[in-house]
Amino acid sequence: MPVIATVLAQASPRTIEQAKSALSAGGLVAFPTETVYGLGADATNDRAVAKLYAAKERPSFNPLIAHVADLAAARRLAQFDVDAVKLAEALWPGPVTLVLPKLRGCPVGQLATSGLDTIAVRVPNHPVARDILTAFGKPVVAPSANRSGRVSPTSAKHVQADLAGRIDLIVDGGASPVGLESTILACLGRTALLRPGATPRAIVERLLGHDIAVATPTLPSPACGGGKGGGGGQPVAPGMLTSHYAPRAALRTNAITVAPGEALLAFGASLPQGAGNAQMMLNLSGRGDLVEAAANLFNYLRELDGAGVHSIAVMPIPDEGLGEAINDRLRRAAAPRHRAIHMTRPQRVS
Ligand code: TXA
Ligand code: MG
Repeated sequence: MPVIATVLAQASPRTIEQAKSALSAGGLVAFPTETVYGLGADATNDRAVAKLYAAKERPSFNPLIAHVADLAAARRLAQFDVDAVKLAEALWPGPVTLVLPKLRGCPVGQLATSGLDTIAVRVPNHPVARDILTAFGKPVVAPSANRSGRVSPTSAKHVQADLAGRIDLIVDGGASPVGLESTILACLGRTALLRPGATPRAIVERLLGHDIAVATPTLPSPACGGGKGGGGGQPVAPGMLTSHYAPRAALRTNAITVAPGEALLAFGASLPQGAGNAQMMLNLSGRGDLVEAAANLFNYLRELDGAGVHSIAVMPIPDEGLGEAINDRLRRAAAPRHRAIHMTRPQRVS
């Protein structure tokens, strides 16, 4: 992969213009969203999308989320059922991604959606992301701006650490306020949760007035209305690989003791046995606040990695509200690392 000069610039009207030009030229631009930093490319330009897969070392069977400025723009990409309309009207702009049937004539290419006939769409709620999307005027695919399989970035510095030399521009808009990726819901018949995330499930269920299914590894095929994309043995959220969001250090969840040599990732005020001997300690939220814990999670995993710790004991986190998404990310970070999955390299652009 050729090394390119990566520009890091504070968000400003001038930087938004730079982002627009870089995207128009098929370049790669990292920018803040309310969840995590995204790595953007013109969703309608297959060459740019191929470059994005290469920069992230992301398997090209893992489709991308198309980001747009508003619901009207989203309606030009995908078909909305009743639940999808309710969710979009109530929660956009905001940290919810909808997986929907792709419209015939949708300008987002096959590479971005990995050949599926569904598409993931999101309208982010961050002023810088919104300004870039509005200025560019076309859908922008934006996975989290980390190398595939690594911890998602919540600051421009994190992006720089993973992707400098591989992308054109990093727009620095400060720390991502939420710190966890969007909640992904499939509206392809019976609405299903594909990825717990920044919008708690209870909010979605209250809005819809019914419970939502939690997706199993594959959806039962075509009856779901998504055609081949929803079923046919395709994983429903191909990116939900077991080992993901992985720090370099080994990670142990639900720890009620700390072993010698371990670092402690704490939650709440009462610390576990052995905490005094921890090699290093960071507390996700001393007052036991899940919103604060979500905002700190990826940052602290990177900080512990940066300090060179070998193993991390993580205290139990309540599985309610944002805790469902925090525990999902922790389980993946603790899972055995299937490096082979990440080695399927996307095609290079010549
Ligand atoms: O908060 C977020 O959603 C961030 C910010 C940057 O917007 N983006 C993000 O993108 O987390 P990424 O690429 O890291 O995760 C997208 C997930 C992947 O697990 C992918 O498999 C899934 O969305 N996905 C995308 N298109 C899909 C589709 N058509 N059907 C099912 N899953 C899909
Ligand atoms: Mg990601």
